Amino acid sequence: MQNYMIAPSILSADFANLGDDVTKVVAAGAEIIHIDVMDGHFVPNITIGPLVVKALRRITDRPLDVHLMIENPERYLDDFAAAGADWITVHAETGYHLHRTLGRIRELGKKCGVVLNPATPLADLKWVLAEVDLVMLMSVNPGFGGQSFIPSALEKIKQLKEMIDAHGLKVGIEVDGGITPANIGAVAAAGANIFVAGSAIFGQPDYQQVIAKMKAALPPR
Ligand code: DX5
Ligand code: ZN
Repeated sequence: MQNYMIAPSILSADFANLGDDVTKVVAAGAEIIHIDVMDGHFVPNITIGPLVVKALRRITDRPLDVHLMIENPERYLDDFAAAGADWITVHAETGYHLHRTLGRIRELGKKCGVVLNPATPLADLKWVLAEVDLVMLMSVNPGFGGQSFIPSALEKIKQLKEMIDAHGLKVGIEVDGGITPANIGAVAAAGANIFVAGSAIFGQPDYQQVIAKMKAALPPR
């Protein structure tokens, strides 16, 4: 999980034409598709569930990156896995047994990741870092698309990268929230390699142009 990957978040796609939008964004160069699952409890918003994952599975072979912003995520892992998720990420702030939840995701044959909200310290990762394929840092408070990037995320990414390198691990660093062609270079330079972007991509008429702009802004690795 070390390569650069652009992950459009379908939260900002046209839900009345979701299949078309996903097909278009894949043709435009998206490496993965980011799917935001919200339950109205862990975050204030409500979005989608396994049925939509299942429908999207039929129209793309790109990895589906399912971001669970829900309480008790352990209850829904089997459903999302069966629906065709490839990556399942869970927040450290919800659920009682993070280590077990991550283990169950791997048992289901999926890549697993842990997500931290902006205020959650990196120290919370210490005892699970060796168990995950990726860590996702929120650079907005989760719940809505179109928010501004929280600048302190850059220092947090840097410290996470140092932590991963110090342990000799190959854990991916995904960043979610407020990423644009103007700041993606700094996010990558801080150490991230997987970039979620919703409004910056789906808010533009030409997905290919904005994704190319993002890729052009990435420093060589
Ligand atoms: C926020 C979601 C994000 C969101 C990103 O709760 O997890 O994935 O869609 O949207 P932008 O890129 O618009 O901040
Ligand atoms: Zn997300």
